[in-house]
Amino acid sequence: MTTPVEPPAGENVYFNDPESGAEMARLIDQDRLITQCMGGALPEQANGFSGIDRMLDIGCGPGGWLLDIAFEHPEIEVVGIDISRAMTDYARGRAEVQGLSNASFHAMDAPALAVSSQLL
Ligand SMILES: C[S@@+](CC[C@H](N)C(=O)[O-])C[C@H]1O[C@@H](n2cnc3c(N)ncnc32)[C@H](O)[C@@H]1O
Repeated sequence: MTTPVEPPAGENVYFNDPESGAEMARLIDQDRLITQCMGGALPEQANGFSGIDRMLDIGCGPGGWLLDIAFEHPEIEVVGIDISRAMTDYARGRAEVQGLSNASFHAMDAPALAVSSQLL
């Protein structure tokens, strides 16, 4: 993996290949570490999620953070989007294995959300 020193203007410049297994492994490790250090997926909401029915994670990667929310709060519908099909396939597979029917994942370029009403 290489990080461009001068990324081309106007292009999607995510610094690693989002379809690579190594990048997915890096994000999974990073997510575990950060969530552990924060004391949970959303520690500031520890006293209640009332009024929150749906969550959208833009650039969800392998979906670890959103899957934690979906597991802990089956009453909340969570949706993750990421430009990487590999990441969203993995996240969807984990949701299926864990039986999380309140979680869905879609491969999508973030700017497309602005013109799509499907997920909102
Ligand atoms: C730093 S990672 C964070 C992943 C995840 N939120 C996490 O905390 O583990 C950024 C993510 O944004 C995704 N991404 C980059 N450009 C994107 C775009 N234009 N639309 C949607 N996702 C994008 C990448 O594929 C990558 O999974």
